[in-house]
Amino acid sequence: MNQQIIDDLNRRYTAKKYDATRKISPEDMETIKEALRLSPSSINSQPWKFIIIESDEAKQRFHATFAHHHQFNQPHARDASHTILLAHDPRFTRDKFRKRVDAEVSSGHLPADMYDNFMGAYAFADSNTDEHGNNASWTKAQVYLALGNLMHTLARLDIASTPMEGVDHELIGELFKEELDGHVCEVAIAIGYHKDGEDWNHSLPKARLPMREVMTVV
Ligand SMILES: Cc1cc2nc3c(=O)[nH]c(=O)nc-3n(C[C@H](O)[C@H](O)[C@H](O)COP(=O)(O)O)c2cc1C
Repeated sequence: MNQQIIDDLNRRYTAKKYDATRKISPEDMETIKEALRLSPSSINSQPWKFIIIESDEAKQRFHATFAHHHQFNQPHARDASHTILLAHDPRFTRDKFRKRVDAEVSSGHLPADMYDNFMGAYAFADSNTDEHGNNASWTKAQVYLALGNLMHTLARLDIASTPMEGVDHELIGELFKEELDGHVCEVAIAIGYHKDGEDWNHSLPKARLPMREVMTVV
């Protein structure tokens, strides 16, 4: 067993209270942003936008999105060093995919004469698109891969985090309309440093089902 990986996964936990005086360094923020950008996705679709809430103004705006729901997550909006909105594109079209295939070729990953073959992979998106052009359930699944990658990255950096499905996607959609650019945010993650003595979830044992219940080796 690789102890470093297991230690990372045991150490990470969902923080319940942040120390508002502690900020993530610019260098660690660069690592976090690059880890998100490098996340894999089906057919390399990258159907996402990641919005980093850093300024006091943006934190205040995010705080206001808890006016109606999920107030238990609201304190993190101001206290956490940053919050990241992970947003998916509910209408990931063939034209948008073309931009990804362009990057496949310009990066040197895909030979130019394979362009049309790679475009054919859009069939994966197509088969997950309804008659109105909506493929949100498929693009949202891609965003969760980025979330998983990010949580491990944060554990390695010893940065605390709180993944949050307890967010109001409608109010976020209104108050961050410009930044979202047509994307939908149904999951966010607060990141920073926990407040000593006030974070009841810190240092508790992991509560997971036994191996035999979740794992089958055949
Ligand atoms: C996708 C997702 C959404 C979650 N939403 C919330 C949330 O809104 N608020 C919260 O306090 N915890 C939230 N959690 C934390 C889970 O309850 C937590 O991960 C789980 O109980 C396992 O505990 P651990 O993260 O401390 O290992 C969420 C976790 C995930 C993965």
